[in-house]
Amino acid sequence: MQVLERSDELAEIAQSLQRSGNRVGLVPTMGFLHRGHLSLVERARTECDSVVVTIFVNPLQFGEGEDFDVYPRDVQGDLTKLEDAGVDFVFVPTVEQMYPEPVAAGVSGATATTVLVRGISELWEGASRPGHFEGVATVVAKLFALVGRCRAYFGDKDYQQLLLIRRMARDLLFPVEVVGCSTIREPDGLALSSRNVRLSGPERRAACVLSRALLDGARDVQSGETQPHSVVEKMQRIVLGEPLASLEYAAAVDAWTLEVPEKLVGDVRLIIAARVGSVRLIDNVGVIAPTTAEVSRIQQGTFGVCSVEDRELEPVEATVLVGVGQAGEQASGVAGVKSNHQVNRQER
Ligand code: PAF
Repeated sequence: MQVLERSDELAEIAQSLQRSGNRVGLVPTMGFLHRGHLSLVERARTECDSVVVTIFVNPLQFGEGEDFDVYPRDVQGDLTKLEDAGVDFVFVPTVEQMYPEPVAAGVSGATATTVLVRGISELWEGASRPGHFEGVATVVAKLFALVGRCRAYFGDKDYQQLLLIRRMARDLLFPVEVVGCSTIREPDGLALSSRNVRLSGPERRAACVLSRALLDGARDVQSGETQPHSVVEKMQRIVLGEPLASLEYAAAVDAWTLEVPEKLVGDVRLIIAARVGSVRLIDNVGVIAPTTAEVSRIQQGTFGVCSVEDRELEPVEATVLVGVGQAGEQASGVAGVKSNHQVNRQER
């Protein structure tokens, strides 16, 4: 495994890999790697000939007063994990390498040129963290420019980020295929995140309230609830019941536009952001809302909703409505808690 610090070295290596016909997999990260990151690496390894991982805590995507200074870092530990995972190249640039010409003295990463993806950048995470997505789009655009043609792997846990990066890659004509990968969870449902390490014991136990709220909301959608506000109220009540958590937002949105629809139909995404203690966490889950005909069958009792275990929150295939009264009938693919992977395969 080769560790690179200079951006020109990365560009040269990527070009020579492409010239010799290698399919390059890119996994951008901010380090402090966990099983979620390693699952992206694993997927890249199975689908590509050479894997490049980047580790860079990007100052441009952190607002004033956010956790840039306390964001967990362990580059040596990360390199060991990546070596074990069979990664070929790791790019660990300095801020100066990524932002060579700062425009404001003393403001880390301040740069004259940024990438703004209009619309999606202003919603949800974008509204809560002004400037965040501009920072993300800018740094990812730089990585795409350095690496060139590749498949780039991102976790579905940052679902809005994934949509934004896809849009940016399309709009700026990067020869990059953006691949979304399923969220990896702890057995109690908590989505893996580098920030989880900052939770105290009681906060760690409280943090699974996010996935619990999503799961309950998803069950309501599966049972035929079509009113976004009813689903959101349920999610809010669950988070309110946890004294260590304070909700920033919870929403039931169209999975492609991230806007709140009048009625929940088709691909729905439930999204949530909350602080647990001082740690800000986000999570989401995809659900396929049943059609009106399916809802009326649920209401008539000819279909029932089978239980979904917490652990299945994310990876359940769309097989949730189960026929009752008709022996053996199983309405596969009708509605369900949708695997993130599925959502991305069905990209419009
Ligand atoms: O998701 C992350 O870790 C970061 O936002 C990313 C995509 C590496 C950009 O800094």
